[in-house]
Amino acid sequence: MGEIIHEMITEKQITDRIREMAEQISKDYEGKEIRIVCILKGSVFFCAELAKRLTVPVTIDFMQVSSYGDKTKTSGNLTVKKDLDDQVEGLHCIVIEDIVDSGYTLSLTKKMLLARNPASLKLCTLLDKPDRRETEIEAEYTGFVIPDKFVVGYGLDYAQKYRNLPYIGEVEFIED
Ligand code: IMP
Ligand code: MG
Repeated sequence: MGEIIHEMITEKQITDRIREMAEQISKDYEGKEIRIVCILKGSVFFCAELAKRLTVPVTIDFMQVSSYGDKTKTSGNLTVKKDLDDQVEGLHCIVIEDIVDSGYTLSLTKKMLLARNPASLKLCTLLDKPDRRETEIEAEYTGFVIPDKFVVGYGLDYAQKYRNLPYIGEVEFIED
């Protein structure tokens, strides 16, 4: 099986939206310092573009997590592949995600980080697929709400491919 990528959100649309988000966040955090928690690997491109445009002081840390949702339970399980290097206690944290799908990854990550007593914690995602939500979670900052399609690019992958596309594309799977 192969795949064709159809452009859904252009590079300019993404850049324009990131600029707006950065302005909003900079305003909301005026006088404060932000600890950005970048969720590897998908959020790297978004995180870099957003962070460059923030006008408040920023530090960045990375973690890699994956979740396994279970519809029979109220929450899934979170596997931490790489934890943060530093403590977040007393810091104003913003978790940066590429996409919220079922919502398990972000809600479990939030729960885990809140247990570490940050001064505050907000969620920021480039994309949101609300139709697929299985757990109640909403990001404070969302780039684009998209339909229930599998997308790649701007950090998002299909089998680790296409992360480097400068736009968001919808994947059409085709039989060989
Ligand atoms: P959730 O826990 O179901 O919200 O899953 C979020 C994670 O699933 C994201 O961080 C992505 O890695 C992956 N994911 C969900 N939808 C897509 C998609 O359309 N394209 C690529 N990755 C996706
Ligand atoms: Mg991801």
